[in-house]
Amino acid sequence: MNAEHGLVFTRRPHPAPVAANVRAAMLEDPGFGRIFSDHMATIRWTQDRGWHAAEIRPREPFVLDPASAVFHYAQEIFEGLKAYRMRNGGVALFRPEQNARRFQASAERLAMPVLPEAAFLRAIEELVKTDVEWVPPGGDGSLYLRPFMFACEAFLGVRPASDYHFVVIASPVGAYFKGGKKAVSVWLSADYTRAAPGGTGAAKCGGNYAASLVAQAEAIRHGCDQVVFLDAAERRWVEELGGMNVFFVFDDGSMLTPPLGGTILPGVTRDSIIALARADGRTVREERYSYESWRADAASGRLREAFACGTAAVVTPISEIKSADGGFVIGNGGGGAVAETLRAKLVGIQRGEIADEFGWVRRVV
Ligand code: COI
Repeated sequence: MNAEHGLVFTRRPHPAPVAANVRAAMLEDPGFGRIFSDHMATIRWTQDRGWHAAEIRPREPFVLDPASAVFHYAQEIFEGLKAYRMRNGGVALFRPEQNARRFQASAERLAMPVLPEAAFLRAIEELVKTDVEWVPPGGDGSLYLRPFMFACEAFLGVRPASDYHFVVIASPVGAYFKGGKKAVSVWLSADYTRAAPGGTGAAKCGGNYAASLVAQAEAIRHGCDQVVFLDAAERRWVEELGGMNVFFVFDDGSMLTPPLGGTILPGVTRDSIIALARADGRTVREERYSYESWRADAASGRLREAFACGTAAVVTPISEIKSADGGFVIGNGGGGAVAETLRAKLVGIQRGEIADEFGWVRRVV
């Protein structure tokens, strides 16, 4: 670790890492978030010492006091980013400084200590270098990195804890959805909302995802892949899906995505899609879009495509919406050319197959 933060990563290699042939078999069809690399990066924060004890160590269970604050008041935040195997054989991260900054914003919202950007990046880079053999070879595979932080002070009073673990684990992944990049169906949640003004919607905290699960389960019961939420105040404006942002493509070639403003997660993929589409000459509006307009525009043909995007989902077309009062199909129900082109550009840059004009790719190995 660079000296300016006074942190040096101690290395404690795994005494019995997964054998190369077993690992190769695991990487053949990893699914999403089911298998994990040998090591993890950890850093402690305590009120009296600040950030300290940075380590690359074997991935293993934590021993935590049952009174640890995270179990009671959910002081927990996380991130998601990927390491990609490049066409030239190297390994790179995609805009990791954006994740570092969002992690800082999430920490502030949850009254947690703010990890310096350099420390966040170094923890990730050290872990990727250590477990580089776990980065799947080409195709749709990548090494999904999950930085997170939780409160571990044993105290039941309701106040910010004085003791935290920052951790990064790594999971080789393929596509997030079972159908790969095939179009997904989405359930409109009428009973539940994801985030309210003044709440934690813009923070990446576990609590937001916990609160989405009952609506996601409802979506699955109705045969859908994902849930879409409307705003909490008017129950009218489309916000985002259970774990990804949403875009709409119109017949004049323009695009629209709901605006950030406290209730929507500021996705790194969302931001990248906006930049790529604008660089292609498309108009992209960050504006509110009502569910009535979505339905009417799909019926009239004004709406050509809708797609979900996120680190895990990349760019995934939405085929149809189902809701308690019926549903509707988008375009031909199979996805469209704009989503496909944007996905190909994004993935091409991430894998070093297309020129990185925005300076987004950060080579690690
Ligand atoms: C991501 O896209 O990285 C996410 O965090 C979404 C989900 C897997 C929680």
